[in-house]
Amino acid sequence: MSVLRTKSIEQSIRETDDPDYALKKSLSWLDLTVFGIGVIIGAGIFTFTGKAAKAYAGPSIVISFVIAAIVCALAALCYAEFASTVPVSGSAYTFSYASLGEVVAWIIGWDLLLELALGAGVVSQGWSSYANLLLGDLGIHLPDALAPRTEDNPAGQLNLLAFLLIAILTALVAWGIKESMRVNLVLVGIKLFIVLFVIFAGLAYIKSANYHPFIPPAKAGAASEGLKQPVIQALLGFTPTTYGLGGIVAGASIVFFAYIGFDVVATTAEEARNPQRDLPIGIIASLVICTILYVAVAFVITGMVRYDKIDPDAALATAFKDAGKAGYGTVISCGAVAGLTTVVMTLIIGASRVLFAMCRDWLLPPSLGRTNPRTGTPVRITILVGLVVAFIGAYLGNHIDLEEMVNIGTLAAFTLVSVAVPILRRKRPDLKRAFTVPLSPVVPLLAAVASLYLMLNLSIETWIRFLVWMAAGFVIYFLYSHRNARLAGRPKEDEVPSLTST
Ligand code: ALA
Repeated sequence: MSVLRTKSIEQSIRETDDPDYALKKSLSWLDLTVFGIGVIIGAGIFTFTGKAAKAYAGPSIVISFVIAAIVCALAALCYAEFASTVPVSGSAYTFSYASLGEVVAWIIGWDLLLELALGAGVVSQGWSSYANLLLGDLGIHLPDALAPRTEDNPAGQLNLLAFLLIAILTALVAWGIKESMRVNLVLVGIKLFIVLFVIFAGLAYIKSANYHPFIPPAKAGAASEGLKQPVIQALLGFTPTTYGLGGIVAGASIVFFAYIGFDVVATTAEEARNPQRDLPIGIIASLVICTILYVAVAFVITGMVRYDKIDPDAALATAFKDAGKAGYGTVISCGAVAGLTTVVMTLIIGASRVLFAMCRDWLLPPSLGRTNPRTGTPVRITILVGLVVAFIGAYLGNHIDLEEMVNIGTLAAFTLVSVAVPILRRKRPDLKRAFTVPLSPVVPLLAAVASLYLMLNLSIETWIRFLVWMAAGFVIYFLYSHRNARLAGRPKEDEVPSLTST
C-alpha cells in the first residue's frame, strides 16, 4: 500500500548533504543538554504545578510528577535509540517515515505540530502573565484589551506582550541556531538559579501539617464532570478523578506538560556535531535533571501552602508572598519571565525543524523549506511558524484552554515512536545503533502503553478537539501530501529528481 511506503534511512541521511537543505552542524552534547533544559523547565513547573495540585492531587502531586517522569523516561529511551540511528532533522516524524510508513509519519508530524507550535503559544501566554505582573510593579499598566486575559481581566482581547515576544524570538531563530543557543545558555542559567532558589528558600517555610492528608480522599468536582471528565472515568466508570488515586494519575497527565521538550532535542539531530553519542546524552541528562528539580519544587510548594489554598496561576511567587516574602515573589517572577522565554524559543525551533523535514520530503510545498544560504536556517518556514504561534499566543489561547491539547499531541507521538523501535529493529537489524533501548520489545511496549494510559486520563473535551485536528490532517494528507510526496515519484521543477522508495 503506497500510504505505507517508507523512505530508506540512507536516503534520509544523504539528503542532509543537499546544499539547498543543509543545516549547520555546530552543536555539542553540552549545547544539547542546555537546549533540553531550556525547553523542559517552563510553564509546567511555574504554572501547572499549582493548578494540578489544587484541582487533582493535593500534596500527592509529587507522585504525579514521578509517574509522568517514568512515562517520559520510557519514551526517552526510545527517542534516544532512534535519534542515534537516524540523525536527521525532524525527530519522530523522520524516524517513523523510515519504519512505520508515510501515513504514520504524517500523523506523527501533525501531532508534533500540536506539541511544538501550540506549546509555544501556550507558554507565551504564561510568560505574558508574569511579564505583565512585573510591568505592574514598575507602574506600567497596559489597556485592559491588550493585557493578558485572566479571571481578573476578562476584557483581554489581544495579548500584546505574547505577540511581541513571539515576533522577537522568531527573528532570532531565523537569524541562526548558534546565536540562539548562546542566548539560551544565559537564560537557562537564570532559570536554574530561580528553581534552586524556590527549593532552598522554601524549605524554611514548610509546615508538616500541610502534608496531611498526603493523598486527599477522592470526591466529585469540576474536573470530574461532563466533558471535563477524563475519558477513562467516563469509559470505565472509575471513581471521580478529583483527588484520591485517580487524581494522582489525572494530575500526572496534566503535569506531563512540564516534561515536554526533551524529545525536541532529537529534532536538532542534524545540527549536532556527533549525534550518535551526543543525542542520547542530551536527551537523558536533561530529563533526569528536570525530574529531580520538579519533585523538589512540588514537595516544597505543597509543604508551604495547603493544597486547597494554592494559587492556580502563579503558585511559586504567591507561596512566598503569603509567607511574608513579597520580594522573593518578584525575584521568582523575573526568573519565570527569563525561563519561559527559552521555552517559547526552543519550541519555535522544534516546530520549524519538523515542518522543514516535511517540506524536504515534499509532503508540504518544498519551496517553503529551503534554507537561506547566509544564515543556514529555513527562514520561510520559521516565519510561517512564528505567524501561527503568534495567532495562538496572542489571540486563540485567550479564548480556549489549550495545554491539554499539547499533552495529547505529544503523548500520541510518544506512543507511535515507542512502537516504531522494535519494528525498525526487525526491518533494519544492520543499522549502526550507538544507543539501544534495553529489553526491547518489552520496554518500548511499556512506553507505548504508559503513554496511552496518560492520554486516557485527559478530558473528553480534549479528545474531541484532538480527533478533529487529526481528521483535518488526514484530509490534507490525502488531498495534497500523498500525491506530491518525493516518494510518489513525480519530479518537481527546480528540484532534485525523485528518489525511489524501498
Ligand atoms: N515543558 C515545557 C514547559 O513546562 C513545555 O513549559
